[in-house]
Amino acid sequence: MPEKLSVLDLDLKGKKVFCRVDFNVPLNEAGAITDDTRILGALPTIRHIIDKGAQLILASHLGRPKGKHNPKYSLAPVAPHLSGLLNRNVAMAEDCIGPQVTSLVNQMENGDIILLENLRFHAGEEKNDPDFCRQLADLADVYVNDAFGTAHRAHASTEGVARLLSPAAAGLLMEKEIRYLSQALANPSHPFVAILGGAKVSDKIAVIENLLGKVDSLLIGGGMAYTFLKAQGHHVGRSLVEEDRLELASELLRQAEEKQVKMLLPTDHVIASEFKEDAQHKTCSNQDFPADWMGLDIGPETSKTFSTVLQKAKTVIWNGPMGVFEFEAFSKGTFAVAKALAESEALSIIGGGDSVAAVNKAGLNDKMTHISTGGGASLEFLEGKILPGIAALTDKS
Ligand code: 3PG
Repeated sequence: MPEKLSVLDLDLKGKKVFCRVDFNVPLNEAGAITDDTRILGALPTIRHIIDKGAQLILASHLGRPKGKHNPKYSLAPVAPHLSGLLNRNVAMAEDCIGPQVTSLVNQMENGDIILLENLRFHAGEEKNDPDFCRQLADLADVYVNDAFGTAHRAHASTEGVARLLSPAAAGLLMEKEIRYLSQALANPSHPFVAILGGAKVSDKIAVIENLLGKVDSLLIGGGMAYTFLKAQGHHVGRSLVEEDRLELASELLRQAEEKQVKMLLPTDHVIASEFKEDAQHKTCSNQDFPADWMGLDIGPETSKTFSTVLQKAKTVIWNGPMGVFEFEAFSKGTFAVAKALAESEALSIIGGGDSVAAVNKAGLNDKMTHISTGGGASLEFLEGKILPGIAALTDKS
């Protein structure tokens, strides 16, 4: 994909800038933000635009309100939070289009910031509706997309508006995400290792297929490992197995062998009598897996093997936990991998909501090279897909 124009390339003085950010942050029952990582991630772009004397219109979605106004998904709590972080006023608009918004925008002065209300309160956002795109585009002169987390969606604010406003540039967070992920995929230092986990093989097929041509080792953990183990003929008790993917799992194992990629599956497990936080648990190996038990984490021997591979790695991509890390008894494998990665000298890229949560929970986030703000977006990037929110931006040349 051609290199895209950067917000740093734009002359912003006196311009109205429509900046798509991903402020899809978790809120608690009382409507307070419980994790502001994504807001923090957008601060460099926001500061840059304001420092250059522009008028900044911030736009985002929050949750999935399905085209209807729903106060539960209002972005209103974000405005004061952002205001506190920037130490300047952030005005909250009551909608993202319409006369009130137009009037607010018309009154803006250089350095002012407005946060539009949730774009997904209008069905036109997800439908990439031309009329809705036009109404958003009419608010501004210039387009900046810093919402990497939503770049895999071809929605009005991520795709349609970018095609109506020129120039359309990448924000600093967007650029950073593209830089790290593309470097790993296109020009990795070897050994290049991918750690894949999570519940299902079906969610990771395209990633595995794309990475098999690039990595030296593929470490598989989490629920998805059991489909591979069963495909190899192992007994896995009542562990999660996607029966309809057994053949595909065999095929992926065959491809790995053909491409001389070391595909490492767990050799031992922390198993439980049932899927419960306080379930009875013990460890077992592939050879003595009891019929009535289920695997909920990789075992100590596997953690050790995976850690040894990570110690020697130069580039590592991690997507998906090794077990049910939300339950203390089944979190050791995921944390062991996080620790090994933190101690390794490898360029480490963490993508995907759950692995990021695990790294944060382990308190090791500052030991990783790059933690992606995109779950679905980073996964699609690793699948080798061109993300519509990136494709729509103006080429640098
Ligand atoms: C995310 O949280 O992955 C992004 O904000 C995209 O949200 P979506 O999956 O609802 O489109």
